[in-house]
Amino acid sequence: MSTALEDLIFNPPAELASNANAKPEIYEKANADRLGFWDGLAKELVTWFEPYDNVLDDSNPPFFKWFTNGKLNVSYNCVDRHANSHKKDKVAILYESEIGRKVSLTYGQLYIEVNKFANALKEIGVKKGDRVTLYMPMIPEAAIAMLACTRVGAAHSIVFGGFSSEALRDRINDAQANVLITADGNFRRGKPFPLKANVDKALEDTPSIEKVVVVKNAGNEVSFVEGRDVWYHDVMAKAADYCEPEKMDAEDMLFILYTSGTTGKPKGVVHTTGGYLVQTQATMKYVFDIKEDDIYWCTADIGWITGHSYVIYAPLALGATTFMYDGTVDYPEKNRMWDMAERYGVTVFYTAPTAIRTFMKWGAEYPKKHDLSKIRLLGSVGEPINPEAWMWYRENIGSNKAPIMDTWWQTETGAFMITPLPGITPLKPGTATNPFPGIEVDIIDENGNSVEVGYLVIKSPWPSMLRTVYGDDDRYVDQYWKRFGKYYFAGDGAKRDEMGYIWVTGRVDDVLNVSGHRLGTAEIESALIEVKEVAEAAVIGRKHEVKGEAVCAFVILKEGVNNSPELIDKMKKHVATKIGALARPDDIIITADLPKTRSGKIMRRLLRDIAEGRAVGDTTTLADPNVMANLKDKYADTEH
Ligand code: PRX
Repeated sequence: MSTALEDLIFNPPAELASNANAKPEIYEKANADRLGFWDGLAKELVTWFEPYDNVLDDSNPPFFKWFTNGKLNVSYNCVDRHANSHKKDKVAILYESEIGRKVSLTYGQLYIEVNKFANALKEIGVKKGDRVTLYMPMIPEAAIAMLACTRVGAAHSIVFGGFSSEALRDRINDAQANVLITADGNFRRGKPFPLKANVDKALEDTPSIEKVVVVKNAGNEVSFVEGRDVWYHDVMAKAADYCEPEKMDAEDMLFILYTSGTTGKPKGVVHTTGGYLVQTQATMKYVFDIKEDDIYWCTADIGWITGHSYVIYAPLALGATTFMYDGTVDYPEKNRMWDMAERYGVTVFYTAPTAIRTFMKWGAEYPKKHDLSKIRLLGSVGEPINPEAWMWYRENIGSNKAPIMDTWWQTETGAFMITPLPGITPLKPGTATNPFPGIEVDIIDENGNSVEVGYLVIKSPWPSMLRTVYGDDDRYVDQYWKRFGKYYFAGDGAKRDEMGYIWVTGRVDDVLNVSGHRLGTAEIESALIEVKEVAEAAVIGRKHEVKGEAVCAFVILKEGVNNSPELIDKMKKHVATKIGALARPDDIIITADLPKTRSGKIMRRLLRDIAEGRAVGDTTTLADPNVMANLKDKYADTEH
């Protein structure tokens, strides 16, 4: 009998194990003295202007503080200390655009750019403590802008370039940003995508914005508002080339990143300076085993946490070479990614299961055209990776030898939490395996008892944890700490296998994961309800072969409104305009009723059963049990 894929075990390659940054003692060390472990890493990995006096202040939970009173600057750690060392001429950022524009910036060059842009920001009025919104493509100027914000002590809030102008407007207003940095546009499948036009629309209703800096990137025409808009190249031409880095407190805000939650309003996840810089670097060093000559490529966009932590901050703080690509993965051909991986000699490659499944669908002939033998380590993030995709990734991208680091973490955790270590952990396809050293995780039931299958929780504070929801401490407490008291509730379900490995099974709250991107059911529902013909909507994620989950909406129309293909199209378009293309529903099922409890709560679990063709679960709490049979018929009749 053949072994099921998820039961296969892959031991660390001997050579990798003997040279790995992390040796087995790392777990013992962290277990013996958890805070001492983080203390050692903070001293080793961060250059502090002034030392901290306490590793962890847990006197006011869940408002934890790390490395209290320590002073540092993130841009200094990511740039200055390398530019002032033997790494001055080492490449920090490698970049290629979809149409083939190439940039390579050494640490010495990056230092000058960051200093100049920091001065430019000051010149247009950015001060320590301000919020600056970025709505940018994956271009080196985005990295420069992030670092320049940290240099002057302003917190950035990056809004993914694929989000709509309305989403951008709401995030600017929530953060009360005074400056916005954007670009004219960027290329998508060879055509310019008009970022600045979206910005202009958003800024019709954002009173806090005083200045807009625009990078000339795609060359598309843009309109300028006199006195508000300035070109990046103009402000850079006038900027002096040294800017003293602000001395930031370890607990000063580094950035806000909006993410979807269980209500319609996105949450501004707040990360601070010291702990974030410690844990992102520690995880990158030990999990991706970064070495002096690595060429590292994380495919995430800077608009997501993965782009923040593992395209920019961790690799640069460690003095590594990070590659950025701005474009679609199949332009001009389906081998684009592998062509670049070969040309740049990529050694460590990090992507998401949805991308792997897309590559898998296209076929192995595309990676086979290229020499990928330099890739020595692979990473996966964003959703559970199915064992088939895991095997395909290892065989076709990892030349059947590269270990896969399946890293579980979240916008809120800032850095990896559950992950193998490449020289130590025997791998099984589909599991993120063990907590990172110094991280305490458990699986518990409703009553807080440790169980084999249940809710994933984090039992003690960790350095790169979120500190609050911007402007809303109550929401922070309610969302993450109310349910289990002293444990952080991640919103995921998990199970433990006989080796003690943790298998994260997906969200257990009303959050969807579409192509590794987080969307709240409530956000999509409120967009649908804005369509004047709609009376009520319930959104769920149903399993999807490539995207992981597809958005599936059950909609009740107002009295007297007839269903039509045009109306369905209008609803889909409205969601895309309101939130962004990635939220566009795949299916809209028009129904007369929704399954509700007697107290009126929609039972989305039952809708998921229908959409995934399962026997419908327990319906005893339904106000009207007949609803389910009607819905099942409706779903079968709808094209999807
Ligand atoms: O459900 C988990 C899933 O992605 C969620 C976090 O989404 P976000 O904050 O957008 O961050 C994504 C990138 C860190 C988690 O609650 N998730 C992320 N990584 C994994 C995962 N699920 C299973 N395995 C993973 N490796």
